[in-house]
Amino acid sequence: MTRILHRSIGPELPRAVCGQGVYITDAQGRRYIDGSGGAAVTSIGHGNAEVLDAMRRQMDAIAYAHTSFFTTEAAESLADRLVDLAPQGLDYVYLVSGGSEAVEAALKMARQYFVEIGQPQRRHIIARRQSYHGNTIGALATGGNAWRRAQFQPILPQTHHVSPCYAWRDQRPDETAQDYAARLAQELEDKIVELGSDQVIAFVAEPVVGATLGAVPAVEGYFRRIREVCDRYGVLLILDEVMCGMGRTGTIFAHEQDGIVADIVTVAKGLGGGYQPIGAVLLSADIYNAFRDGSGLFQHGHTYIGHPVAAAAADKVVEIMARPGLMENVRAMGQRLRDGLADELGRHPNVGDIRGRGLFCGIELVADRDSKEPLDPALRTHARIKREAMARRLISYPMGGTIDGVRGDHILLAPPYIIQPDEIDLIVQRISDAIRATVG
Ligand SMILES: Cc1ncc(COP(=O)(O)O)c(C=O)c1O
Repeated sequence: MTRILHRSIGPELPRAVCGQGVYITDAQGRRYIDGSGGAAVTSIGHGNAEVLDAMRRQMDAIAYAHTSFFTTEAAESLADRLVDLAPQGLDYVYLVSGGSEAVEAALKMARQYFVEIGQPQRRHIIARRQSYHGNTIGALATGGNAWRRAQFQPILPQTHHVSPCYAWRDQRPDETAQDYAARLAQELEDKIVELGSDQVIAFVAEPVVGATLGAVPAVEGYFRRIREVCDRYGVLLILDEVMCGMGRTGTIFAHEQDGIVADIVTVAKGLGGGYQPIGAVLLSADIYNAFRDGSGLFQHGHTYIGHPVAAAAADKVVEIMARPGLMENVRAMGQRLRDGLADELGRHPNVGDIRGRGLFCGIELVADRDSKEPLDPALRTHARIKREAMARRLISYPMGGTIDGVRGDHILLAPPYIIQPDEIDLIVQRISDAIRATVG
């Protein structure tokens, strides 16, 4: 008997009692390999003694001080560290308690920026279909995940969506990657013009689409073209790196690999690595200066922003992930994961695509490899694979609705960055067995 309204009301969940390295143990003594870091959260592994020490030290000193009265060493240190590691152009940090809060703050920051600089007419947000930006009302409205939005549609603020960059399905046979990127950039430009060339606040996108598409990076050149379109119309570019950022793709910031500068970047998940609930918004000096020289404040805030214990944990997590060797491990182990999956599943009749960057890996399932016809959604293949994987003591992150919110199945794998080759091989074996047990 549980008194918790769990995410789904159904069979009892196992109780997690211990986390160490890449493993979680439940109350029955079953040891699971954390092949997805939960939902791409566990970045440097479970039970890291240095992070626990940093949190303890902060709790002993002071656990909480409201941010309208005080700042703390932990929060200042984390902000300095993030700015030092960020690509050029991201100069300030706003701390929050998770990914949805980061996206909400980013949207309001973008809107207030235009009010401060005398362009209050700007009011539209454009994002992409088949994206996820969080579950709070503003973030949900921004996301293009049709299934997550459906029943809440009547209470969502109006937003606009263009196509995702999903080359495996949407790049035409007669198109080069460059042509495809140009077509998508043109679609964004057309949408901006349709809404009014001085009416759009921001374009929001995940550099590597996570939960909704299953680790899909953009084609080469896509984000450079998108940046050009945004610049042409004075539209801010907000990159949501809540899932793909903080080292997940083999660089601290995912968009480093796209060679562009963003105006605002949101991070969370791997930032706290599961040790504390924390998110952050990184913003340009232009935006910061507009606030400083204008109203002198950002009209936002929550009780727990800049929480000292969360900041101390994240500061240590980020320090650890930036140490020499760890990002190299993410890249090498990510390659091993994709190679291992290709060996095991590359010819499986229901495996259409194996993709991703770093330790952010997606497997898309199909009914037919040639036509890319998806499996019948009524089969709920993704949910059955999740169960089969759990039965084999593997935590994975399968999802349905990959194509349009209803059709399509994929599995997301995102193990901790400290993972070793034999543990990668174990994930490959267990997920392959779970797929075969489900679809044959
Ligand atoms: C890209 C992206 N943005 C925002 C969020 C929301 O983050 P949170 O669940 O921490 O609120 C998520 C969560 O999966 C995400 O993947």
